Amino acid sequence: MSLRLGALELANPFLLAPMESVTDVAYRRLCWEQGAALTFTEMIRARGIVRNNKSTLDLIDTTDPEVPTGLQLMVANERELIEALGKLEKLAASSHPHFQNLIAVDLNFGCPSPEVIKIGAGPALLKRKTRLGLIFEALAQWKKTTTLPVKAVGAKIRLGLNRPEQDAKVYLPIVELANASLDWLTIHARHARAQSGDPATWSAIAEATQRATIPIIGNGDVFTRDDFERLTKTTRASGALIARAAIRSPWVFRGLTGKGSHTPTLEEIDAAERHYLARSTDTRPKFRQWHAEGFERMRRRLKGDDSGPQMPATEHMS
Ligand SMILES: Cc1cc2nc3c(=O)[nH]c(=O)nc-3n(C[C@H](O)[C@H](O)[C@H](O)COP(=O)(O)O)c2cc1C
Repeated sequence: MSLRLGALELANPFLLAPMESVTDVAYRRLCWEQGAALTFTEMIRARGIVRNNKSTLDLIDTTDPEVPTGLQLMVANERELIEALGKLEKLAASSHPHFQNLIAVDLNFGCPSPEVIKIGAGPALLKRKTRLGLIFEALAQWKKTTTLPVKAVGAKIRLGLNRPEQDAKVYLPIVELANASLDWLTIHARHARAQSGDPATWSAIAEATQRATIPIIGNGDVFTRDDFERLTKTTRASGALIARAAIRSPWVFRGLTGKGSHTPTLEEIDAAERHYLARSTDTRPKFRQWHAEGFERMRRRLKGDDSGPQMPATEHMS
């Protein structure tokens, strides 16, 4: 059950989703230890990189060389993309430890934040085929000559900015654009105005795989191995990107890969928290705060108490 994305050979088809305030370097390691084959940083604004914004750059922490990590970028156009990537190459060349181990780049066209949509980025670009094509092509050309160890490039899309765009199937021409330039396309099977509780429309993933010559990664509502099997059977997706299930339990990857239960023991939670704390000393407080609550919630759940916030409050959850 391996998966090839461009020149990247992955041990299995289960990817940890980019998640704001969640997927810092130490949490990515925890999910990788449980079986996630590829992990992503949270969404990073290309504009922040271009402006040398320290807090943006701090978020791109790939100091753990063992954990396969992709950078997720939010860009408004191809110039900004190339400028941001050029800056990272320079920083990596200056031996800054944060930027040495990026093996993939993923572009975000799904963030529902009004601030992102207002600048014409994220899902506002889904119906702009010319602009999207230019961005994909610029990324593909950059990959050919980059000094970073990037082996695959892809994009994560939604089904449209809103219901009318989803009904008009704006996602289908994007598959053709991705075929021409990218190594994979992830489809979060909701439009950007949908609520996270609305069921994902997997039939759209099936429509995409029929047109795709590159791997399509399905995203939305995969919580268990059974869900994954239904996803692949009904859509022919090559893999699954896992978000909320990994917040609930990083051990979901152990369950997905068939190596054990997705429910950890108390001892496993305690050890994971100790390791997380030891590895996250340079991590921004927002991550440490969230994960302190997250580990506590996992302990409570073992005792049958499933109360408390299940998700950090971020702009990605509508
Ligand atoms: C807390 C949180 C933060 C998120 N941050 C991002 C992000 O930075 N970039 C992104 O593309 N999607 C982000 N998402 C969306 C997820 O990657 C994913 O597309 C969505 O949750 C659906 O997958 P799921 O059903 O497995 O949760 C976020 C989701 C959550 C719950």
